[in-house]
Amino acid sequence: CLWVRGHGQKRSPPGPFPWPVVGNAMQLGQMPHLTFCRMAQIYGNVFKIKLGTRDVVVLNGEATIRRALVKHREEFAGRPNFSSFKMVSGGRSMAFGAYSDLWKAHKKIAHSTLRAFSTVNTETTRQFEQHVAAEVKDLIRVFLLRSTDGKYFDPYHECTVAIANVICALCFGKRYSHEDDEFKALVGRNDKFGQTVGAGSLVDLLPWLQAFPNPVRRLYQSFKDLNLEFFDFVKDKVSQHRETYNPEVTRDMSDAFIGLIDHGVGDGELLSKEYVESTVTDLLGAGQDTNSTALTWIILLLVKYPHIQKKLQEEIDRVMGQDRVPTAEDRAKLPYVQAFIYESMRFSSFVPMTIPHSTTCDVLIDGFYIPRDTIIFVNQWSVNHDVDKWTNPDQFQPDRFLDENNQLNKDLIHGVMIFSVGRRRCIGDQLSMLQLFLFTSILLQQCSFRSDPKQELTMDCINSLALKPLPFGVSVKARRQLTNQET
Ligand code: HEM
Repeated sequence: CLWVRGHGQKRSPPGPFPWPVVGNAMQLGQMPHLTFCRMAQIYGNVFKIKLGTRDVVVLNGEATIRRALVKHREEFAGRPNFSSFKMVSGGRSMAFGAYSDLWKAHKKIAHSTLRAFSTVNTETTRQFEQHVAAEVKDLIRVFLLRSTDGKYFDPYHECTVAIANVICALCFGKRYSHEDDEFKALVGRNDKFGQTVGAGSLVDLLPWLQAFPNPVRRLYQSFKDLNLEFFDFVKDKVSQHRETYNPEVTRDMSDAFIGLIDHGVGDGELLSKEYVESTVTDLLGAGQDTNSTALTWIILLLVKYPHIQKKLQEEIDRVMGQDRVPTAEDRAKLPYVQAFIYESMRFSSFVPMTIPHSTTCDVLIDGFYIPRDTIIFVNQWSVNHDVDKWTNPDQFQPDRFLDENNQLNKDLIHGVMIFSVGRRRCIGDQLSMLQLFLFTSILLQQCSFRSDPKQELTMDCINSLALKPLPFGVSVKARRQLTNQET
């Protein structure tokens, strides 16, 4: 970090007037990202609010966010010292941990191991593909069962189990049945996690709320409990792995982390053994809620726009028919499917704010002085709905990502911001894009989706760390007769 010098008069970012005690907390509303977009129109892309007694600087718009998170990557790579962050992954979370040399080693190990088990080369991609294809097949079985006699059901919980199973297979070499209620409950409690950790969380910023009974305190308590429960689930699995560990055979990511960390290989020698459980918990938690929310949005958008669903199926039918299931290599041949996925991410912006950042030292951004340890909120929504960047950003138009030759416009897709940028960028981006491509293309190749005509479909959602669609009814039909072997 460079010491910010030569700015005799340190210009602080502008912002709304803060009230005593609560600051601007009461102004955030249910959808802070939308409030922040409105505030950015008044105060500019860098503005300051107060939450409780803490200053929070909010960054909006692609250019400003990239200048901060990419150009000043080190300075903006911190996380606030929130007490809720210390409850995640046994207090050794990489995703919620402070920026340091130890953190860099931790992120490197987590990232390279995740890639080694998913997208690093053709061989691992093929294995990953097989896990995903098996999960989609089982998901289709459950979808069809729930749609018996034309019934409608909310697909969110089934999507959660299918997505959690993919990451469980990578972490533990094990999947769980859709009928396993305990597993369903464990992975289904994630909304409480997001509500506490999402930007705008009041619990960490107004600690006195914990002093008397209120909904925020109850949320905080359940956050504590669900983190402990989730961590215990992983600890148990990792200790079973340690008992049966064989250095000659790496069965899954738990084994890989045991090999690197317990046995001090490379950067692993910097981390104590407890980091194995924490890293697995981080990956399992981060990989599951995000992708299941993405898949739920995809299904909602398919039923909301049946003509787009039809066009997607036509593309898939043209390229591979029913002869074989789509694979990673088919991505380039299915540009409309890819455009649909990017547009679903842009339009829903279902992770509207990143996890809160903090400054690691004093820094200047767009001429404004921001002191060290300031909390930073990054508004990804403002990038994906910027009227200067997108035509009709509030309309769902997958075609916007296709060029005049109907190929994917690579420049434009990089303009969608959902995995953040810079030092804290998500490490699950490639895995997620592949997983969502496979889920979407296989589901559409084999099934058609329709919504309940008695229920009005809305794009309203519940805000936690991710924006989740409200429950909606869907019915699924197989596009061809399944053979006995397949059912
Ligand atoms: C962090 C989005 C899937 C692992 C993040 C962040 C976002 C994000 C916005 C915060 C970045 C920041 O604070 O600046 C998403 C989306 C996903 C997804 C939209 C799916 C569509 C995954 C998956 C994994 C994963 C599948 C792993 C299996 C992580 C980790 C971090 C992270 C470990 C913390 C990075 C850090 O603090 O440096 N993700 N994520 N994510 N994500 Fe993801």
